[in-house]
Amino acid sequence: QANKKGYPHFMLKEIHEQPEVVNKGIARYMKDSQIYFGEEFEKIDFSKIDNIVIVACGTAYHAGLQGAYFLKKLAGIKVDVEVASEFRYSDPFINEKTLAIFISQSGETLDTLMAMKLSKELGATTLAITNVLGSTISREADIVLYTMAGPEISVASTKAYTAQVALMYMFAMYMGIKNKKISIEEYNEYMRTIAEFSDRIEVALENKEKIHELAKKIKDCRNGFYIGRGIDEKIAREGSLKMKEITYIHSEAIAAGELKHGTIALIEPGTLVVVVATQKDMIEKMVSNIKEIKARGGYVIAITKENYSQVLEVADETIFIEDINDMLAPLLTVMPLQLLAYYTAVEKGLDVDKPRNLAKSVTVE
Ligand code: G6P
Repeated sequence: QANKKGYPHFMLKEIHEQPEVVNKGIARYMKDSQIYFGEEFEKIDFSKIDNIVIVACGTAYHAGLQGAYFLKKLAGIKVDVEVASEFRYSDPFINEKTLAIFISQSGETLDTLMAMKLSKELGATTLAITNVLGSTISREADIVLYTMAGPEISVASTKAYTAQVALMYMFAMYMGIKNKKISIEEYNEYMRTIAEFSDRIEVALENKEKIHELAKKIKDCRNGFYIGRGIDEKIAREGSLKMKEITYIHSEAIAAGELKHGTIALIEPGTLVVVVATQKDMIEKMVSNIKEIKARGGYVIAITKENYSQVLEVADETIFIEDINDMLAPLLTVMPLQLLAYYTAVEKGLDVDKPRNLAKSVTVE
């Protein structure tokens, strides 16, 4: 029985469940302090796999983008990420050396299912990452990993996304060790950080009041842009999607470096730009981007780490997350992005849990 447990909306309840969801998700695939995905998974012949393709839709696609980033960085594997609805028409380079991963909260999205069927025909090993036990995608896949996020009622996905990202992160570490791309010391360090993660998510959610105030300021915006670099660009896409899904504010996410190739023409006094800037190597470039936006009168809400005071100096509003390993920052950054979309929809008086024209699970192509 779905119950809001005292929260005004399922979305807010599900946002608050994220610390526990991450804990549970990690615990499910740990054995003797090591990552263990189970007997079936161990049967995958990784010696024959030389490439990975990740296929998904919507928010799950964004989790796939994060996953690909982790896999490339931590495991040195060639990874492509495809939107499921495009996959069949893209003449995919798939064969028996491919591990094809399908991410789907519901396990019922038809585009994702059809992409899985094609991958099987082409000889790939198929791995489903899903939240719903016994779902069609879980039954069709060679191997299944479950995100263990519990039922997600709000159409806009929050906790399922975070669980998908955490699982992709574990998978990348698993592959990193297998491929000898990360050392045992690095692995242990990552595992220590991830073990404490739920507390850090709790802290990130404490910004709630401040974000609610920001939502009041932006609720009448008609357009907004989300920018970031590297992994922040991927999380910017998810923040933008959340905003457009439930507030109907037109919003677009772009790589910050692309700003000067078009989008900057649209920045005028008051234009909302949400800047995600958590990556050490890119922080100076992000500060330059903020200055460019400010020079044209844009209104900048920045999400950054608590030690990057240079961002605070240039942005209109700054939301901080804890100073954490760059690679793990997205698991914290997504919290304020979800809350910003949520409170903006609340301030606009919209039906947060059931936005117009959207379905929780799309079973048509
Ligand atoms: C719909 C939902 C989204 C979801 C997408 C993919 O569009 O509204 O929240 O991300 O489908 O769903 P899946 O169940 O495959 O993750």
